[in-house]
Amino acid sequence: MARKPVIAGNWKMNKTPDEAVAFVRELTPMIGEFDDVERVVAPTFLALAAVAAELRGSSVKAASQDAHWETSGAYTSQVSASMLAPHVDYAIIGHSECRAFLNETDENVNRKAKAILAAGLKPIVAVGESLEQNEAGETVPFVRSQVRAALDGLAPDDMSRVVIAYEPIWAIGTGRSASGEIADDIIKTAVRDTVSELFGMDAAEEVRIQYGGSVKPENMEEFMAQPNIDGALVGGASLVANDFAALIEIASRVKGRRSANA
Ligand code: 13P
Repeated sequence: MARKPVIAGNWKMNKTPDEAVAFVRELTPMIGEFDDVERVVAPTFLALAAVAAELRGSSVKAASQDAHWETSGAYTSQVSASMLAPHVDYAIIGHSECRAFLNETDENVNRKAKAILAAGLKPIVAVGESLEQNEAGETVPFVRSQVRAALDGLAPDDMSRVVIAYEPIWAIGTGRSASGEIADDIIKTAVRDTVSELFGMDAAEEVRIQYGGSVKPENMEEFMAQPNIDGALVGGASLVANDFAALIEIASRVKGRRSANA
């Protein structure tokens, strides 16, 4: 069964609402035809409703950069998955920047994943090791533990709606990326095999796994050519319409309908 590639632009703390709307107006005509690739943009919370309104009727989807697990209540600064549901299809959780700056824990990532699924949305669960862990040879056990914790208590059926993004922290915003082959190997052994142990082989075949970390048009083909990499979670290059459109075009050519083996 072919997994549909999913390319998501994580805008992080960039673009005001006006800039965000102008950007999607420029972007959507460039990527509108690539419906063999899921195309997702994740603006800040402030710009999200305006971007979602601009995207209505288009095949490009919106994502939030977080989602709280409770539906409402005394959680200053937070936005719940159920509040996001009318505006987005996806919610990114567990990003290493949130783990580092906001004390995001594995336990909270798990709560958020459950709430996002319950709200009818799809979580994009980010995992990945630090440079120290990588150099100490701890990547696979560490990423496995993050995946196990994030997916604890979910059901095999949920895996068709879960996306996991493997983002080595040392590759984020550094211009230094993992090689396609190494990323594919870690994604297979640390992520897909863990999903298989937890939920069975069918679920592991179905779950989509992205690579993230300094993805750009120049290295996109190398990642998309890998059998276990089903897309990309993109920071810097997603802020430039031509670059993001080039990533979508490459994903479609290498992995989508336009690929020779599709
Ligand atoms: P860069 O593409 O800027 O390295 O960021 C990756 C990332 O953190 C996406 O979530």
